[in-house]
Amino acid sequence: MWPRTDFLELIGATHPIIQAPMSGFTTPALAAAVCNAGAVGSIGCAGVPSATVREQVIALRQATNRPYILNFFVHSHPHFDPEATARMRARLATYFDEFGLGAVPEPKGLLPSFDEEQLDLVLELRPRIVSFHFGLPEPSAVRRLKQGDCLILSSATTVAEARWLAANGADAIIAQGFEAGGHRGSFNDSPGAGMVGTMALVPQIVDAVRIPVIAAGGIADGRGLAAAFALGASAAQLGTAFLACPETNVTPLHRARLRGATDDGTELTPAFTGRPARAMRNRFAAEMADSDPLEFPLQASLLRPLWELPSEASRADFVPLWAGQAAPLIREMPAGELVEKLVRDAQSILGGSI
Ligand SMILES: Cc1cc2nc3c(=O)[nH]c(=O)nc-3n(C[C@H](O)[C@H](O)[C@H](O)COP(=O)(O)O)c2cc1C
Repeated sequence: MWPRTDFLELIGATHPIIQAPMSGFTTPALAAAVCNAGAVGSIGCAGVPSATVREQVIALRQATNRPYILNFFVHSHPHFDPEATARMRARLATYFDEFGLGAVPEPKGLLPSFDEEQLDLVLELRPRIVSFHFGLPEPSAVRRLKQGDCLILSSATTVAEARWLAANGADAIIAQGFEAGGHRGSFNDSPGAGMVGTMALVPQIVDAVRIPVIAAGGIADGRGLAAAFALGASAAQLGTAFLACPETNVTPLHRARLRGATDDGTELTPAFTGRPARAMRNRFAAEMADSDPLEFPLQASLLRPLWELPSEASRADFVPLWAGQAAPLIREMPAGELVEKLVRDAQSILGGSI
């Protein structure tokens, strides 16, 4: 069996694998397949209207009665800076002119942080677990979630963040290393936050807190899962590996690029949304490397027209194709089979029997 079972006992799952919440990409079919294979499926709810979240949870519950995760962003409200906005709009105008897109839009806060409406929604839907990115909600919300019998997870990218999460209500910590695809979950202002690799981060967080630690970032096969346990983790959260499953909501362009991924083909950049996030290298990330993006999530609201360009080749230059450094390890298969393969391969390394 697994060397450490504290996380599994806490949440009531069979296998110590979390399919990462990936807002916009995860579907009830994906989460259900993962749950039914004995691991933990998640639905990314950041920016998703409450009615859609409700529909997704109803669909998920029709397909499985196992524990699942709902995930939200808890970023701070962005500060609107007219001068920075004018500078960024002027810079982007070159691209808008190139494609005849008209004026660069004014920034909009398209992505609300976890609020009262989402709290009520979670308390209505009562998932076994709710996870957060960029910290934790207000203490009163954490209290209400706990009274509602929800376990709380959040990502840490430094030991200091992990200690803060443990002291402020998290039931387990996701130790998210530098290799991870998508947004860094960093929420303190240390200059090195978000830059620590999984191999160094996981054991240091394990030593620093007394709650289960879930390794994330660069884990995409049984070797990575076994390594997470060797580092002291009690589970692993995998995003990029599940992105290629047929049950995800991933564009043909994104899928094609994942198939051609290379170890050095991604970079961490704030240019797409205003927060550091790992995506495949493209023209926009390279050319905007010296720019000062607007605060998250305002930056993204300026770029929408570029992300909707009619030609796939042009879109590839501008769309953020999120992926982690382990993308070349992906094996495309249905999510349930992926869980079974991860378990089999990790168990054969760990020397246990399932
Ligand atoms: C496409 C994509 C979207 C993501 N969206 C979210 C999200 O909505 N919420 C979240 O907490 N983490 C999100 N993440 C980060 C994952 O939770 C996780 O930390 C990461 O995928 C782990 O690294 P890996 O991609 O190397 O497996 C996303 C990751 C990817 C690849």
